[in-house]
Amino acid sequence: MSVDTLLKGKVVLVTGAGGGIGAHIARLAASRGAQVVVNDLGGSPHGDGADQRPAQTVVHEIRTAGGEAVPSFHSVASWDGAQAIVQDAIDAFGRIDVVVNNAGVLRDTMFHKMSAEDWEVVEAVNLSGSFYVARAAAPHFKQQESGCFVHMTSTSGLIGNLGQVNYGAAKLGVAGLSKCIAIDMEKFNVRSNCIAPFAFTRMVGTIPADTEYNRKRLDVVKRMTPDKIAPFAVGLMSDAAKDVSGQIFGVRMNEIILFSQPRPIRTVHAGDEGWTPETCIERALPALRGSMYKLDRSPHVFTWDPV
Ligand SMILES: NC(=O)c1ccc[n+]([C@@H]2O[C@H](COP(=O)([O-])OP(=O)(O)OC[C@H]3O[C@@H](n4cnc5c(N)ncnc54)[C@H](O)[C@@H]3O)[C@@H](O)[C@H]2O)c1
Repeated sequence: MSVDTLLKGKVVLVTGAGGGIGAHIARLAASRGAQVVVNDLGGSPHGDGADQRPAQTVVHEIRTAGGEAVPSFHSVASWDGAQAIVQDAIDAFGRIDVVVNNAGVLRDTMFHKMSAEDWEVVEAVNLSGSFYVARAAAPHFKQQESGCFVHMTSTSGLIGNLGQVNYGAAKLGVAGLSKCIAIDMEKFNVRSNCIAPFAFTRMVGTIPADTEYNRKRLDVVKRMTPDKIAPFAVGLMSDAAKDVSGQIFGVRMNEIILFSQPRPIRTVHAGDEGWTPETCIERALPALRGSMYKLDRSPHVFTWDPV
């Protein structure tokens, strides 16, 4: 890894960077001259336990390759943890320029069997964690009038998927969080974008292969590697992308996707008389029905394999 200058002078914090997609982003950012904070709690893919070794290993790899990095072991899933993570960046490098909200956990189960804990753990890390860490960095970004957020969303929320009510809700929430941060902080030159990655990691390995649908889905994802997400994430961090904000991208191997964002596609208006339940049934629903979406899941939309 030779260290070049694309991100020279920038301090990049990557949460959940002890493995998977985040570790690749951390290593690539460091190779492009960034000073990197490698945050990882080191828990299980379901959100249990803690272990400092994953973050330490990635820091060691970056330093061995000639880059600069420090570990951070706090959880993103609390206000105080997130404040401590951003403070780790300030203590080590004196500033913060980029936050990659990448930490995530998965607890797949059908909605009618989902426990309150399955819901709360997944929202706490994926959605609240993204808010807490972004919010902890926001005063620094505002004060220095620059900053960049990259948040990991998912087609499980943007499109929908089986057995992922908790995760889908969190990841669609992340897309809303990102867009509204982009609007609120535009005047401070702060940018906020999302990436929906596709890659086989230990997290995806927890999806139960108990149905034909999941087996087929896993067979395809198994061929997609997490290193492929990092180049676009690092490109977004650079000043060359300073006009890019409020967008939702996808990365599948060598394919980069720009996603649509919801807009009205058809409307009906009742005039001054307004609607009654009966006229909604007689006129509004028939007028809209032809434009309604099928119950598509992510693999129904991504029907071809980029590998
Ligand atoms: N792999 C995919 O196909 C895919 C698809 C869509 C979205 N994503 C998202 O991409 C991101 C990276 O996932 P991945 O596939 O590399 O999985 P991964 O399990 O390899 O990485 C997630 C990392 O987050 C860390 N983490 C979990 N809870 C944490 C906490 N509270 N505080 C700090 N760190 C914590 C874990 O220890 C782990 O190292 C996640 O947000 C995930 O939801 C992945």
